[in-house]
Amino acid sequence: MAYKLDNVLFSEEQIKARVRELAKDIARDFGNDKPLAVVGILTGAAFFLTDLVRELPENLDVRIDFMSVASYGDSDKSSGVVRIFHDLKSSIENKNVLIVEDIVDTGLTLSHLQELLHNRKPASLKTCVLLDKYERRQTEVKVDYCGFKIPDKFVVGYGLDYAGKWRHLKEIKTLVDDGK
Ligand code: PRP
Repeated sequence: MAYKLDNVLFSEEQIKARVRELAKDIARDFGNDKPLAVVGILTGAAFFLTDLVRELPENLDVRIDFMSVASYGDSDKSSGVVRIFHDLKSSIENKNVLIVEDIVDTGLTLSHLQELLHNRKPASLKTCVLLDKYERRQTEVKVDYCGFKIPDKFVVGYGLDYAGKWRHLKEIKTLVDDGK
């Protein structure tokens, strides 16, 4: 089955407005007693993260780092293992950590990642996701900041891909079967 772009789910303006609100919530919750290590999970979250951090106040001690991971786990058996393709450059010990993800779906990646980073002894660990496809959840996972809850549909754009395509769109769109 092949897909083509369908409707706009969130426009550039809607995304911008929501990112600004999330940044406000984050800025309210973190002080400057410790650095805030913002950890982006490649590849999809890079787009969201760069917009989000630029809405944070300049007096907040923000550090940025990225990880590339894949979770091994499926509906029957969650191995609890995250395979790391690219690890953080800096230690997160005793820092306030904010994981930034583009989407939480089954929750397996995020729950494994939270456990992995928790074991590195951060001062605190919170998670911010742009999209929450909550109907597909297979494991309970804590999300502290959520941009939008979305239905169980294929979505692309603003970092999200389908088979590697459409990450570069400014808006988030749904896909539809192109009948081919
Ligand atoms: C997406 C997303 C999460 C994961 C969520 O990454 O960024 O990491 O899937 O799915 P889950 O809740 O079912 O575990 P993906 O593997 O598509 O990588 P990408 O960001 O490089 O596209």
